[in-house]
Amino acid sequence: MRVIEGVRGRIVVRTILRQARENRAGFGLFVCRATFSVALLTLAIGEDVMLKTTESIVAGALLLAVLAACGSGGETSDPAAGAEMLANGMTVGAQIEARQGGFKTFGKNFKTISDQLKSDSADMAAVQAAAATIADTATGLGDWFPEGTGPESGVETEALAIIWEDGADFATKVSDAQAAIEGLNLAAQSGDAEAISTAFRNAGGTCKACHDKFRLDD
Ligand code: HEC
Repeated sequence: MRVIEGVRGRIVVRTILRQARENRAGFGLFVCRATFSVALLTLAIGEDVMLKTTESIVAGALLLAVLAACGSGGETSDPAAGAEMLANGMTVGAQIEARQGGFKTFGKNFKTISDQLKSDSADMAAVQAAAATIADTATGLGDWFPEGTGPESGVETEALAIIWEDGADFATKVSDAQAAIEGLNLAAQSGDAEAISTAFRNAGGTCKACHDKFRLDD
């Protein structure tokens, strides 16, 4: 029994040293892991020298507390995530936030059009303004995904890595959407409800086609 506990203690010490070597990037995470390891070690030694049960319980509680504190962290809590500068002068974090803002604009204005199309007395001016906003926003779509703004950045994003692995297909999805959105805007400005309905369904299909392959499922 003693021998087993001693071995366990040595393994824990070795783990701490390995983590110290590996953890050049996230010092916070290292402290977190090291504390966790020390708590484990305390527990192992506690059992080894047959400390009172209460002391083992205290060590166990410490272990749980540290586990809980560290569990909520992980790579994404790195405060430096997203701080890298892109060639366009924006940080990775700002770029991701801007594109999510762009998509929110799509969503909000799409809903306006959808609501109006369902209504018996559609507010055509609202439809036209929404379609123009979507068309305006969509001109930048192709620039919203510079290399380095994927999930590997550590910033929360629903963009999948496959965007940069299958860039040709992604570019096609971008231009399909831009064309359909331009069609929606033209239809909206014409004021023809029938044409707007058709163009709206068409544009919606291009949103979905991209989401199905390139966006994380909800
Ligand atoms: C070329 C691909 C593509 C097209 C086209 C596209 N999307 Fe998206 N959309 C994405 C990706 C990728 C994300 C995830 C972005 C992120 O989290 O960084 C997203 C996110 C969103 C979000 C969530 C934004 C947020 O963070 O809250 C909404 C809403 C949305 N899209 C609506 C639309 C609508 C409406 C259209 C069509 C007019 C559309 N999208 C067209 C790829 C696309």
